[in-house]
Amino acid sequence: MGLNPEIEKNYRELLSKITIRRTECEEFVRFLEKETTWLTAPASTKYHLNIEHGLIIHSVNVATTMLSLKNVLIPEIPAESCVIVGLFHDTGKVGMPYAPRYLKKNTSYIYNEELVEMSSAARSLYLVSKFISLSDEEAQAILYHDGQYILENRPVAHKECHLTLLVTFADTWTAAKEDGRLKVKQLLYFTKQTNIKQEGKNGGN
Ligand SMILES: [Fe+2]
Ligand SMILES: [Fe+2]
Repeated sequence: MGLNPEIEKNYRELLSKITIRRTECEEFVRFLEKETTWLTAPASTKYHLNIEHGLIIHSVNVATTMLSLKNVLIPEIPAESCVIVGLFHDTGKVGMPYAPRYLKKNTSYIYNEELVEMSSAARSLYLVSKFISLSDEEAQAILYHDGQYILENRPVAHKECHLTLLVTFADTWTAAKEDGRLKVKQLLYFTKQTNIKQEGKNGGN
């Protein structure tokens, strides 16, 4: 199945916002598209977007959310930094050239255990920095993008740069949206206007 044209369009539009490091980014994108599963890999094996093209869909969504947040919260930081961090924060999930991290098994995905073990955030930083000259703030944002969900990220608690805060929030928000967890419910408990089924009423517990 091909990539959704809307996602493809958004992806190319995001890339066009990279101007200062355009040549480096083009090299990196060429590498990702030709030598890895970047355009087809899932975003996870069993959580959000564990489907074909899930990784590129998620990455486009995170970069787009980061740009929206930065425009409201801190417009002075360059769009280029948000695109590089947002779009490439999970590139470690592709694994290595010609050695994908996720392997298709029947209708789902499993980990390829053959790869040298490292966190996907560390692999993202490793891959991105082979091609793109990152600022130290961009490097922190890519490496620690999972924020304080990960125990090993403790050393940067309260020492996060703006890009790290933006990518962490954009990533968790986007994953929750992709999981369908962002439904707005009106539970007015104290006015008895809830729409929770009162199962206990008829003898349940
Ligand atoms: Fe991630
Ligand atoms: Fe992510």
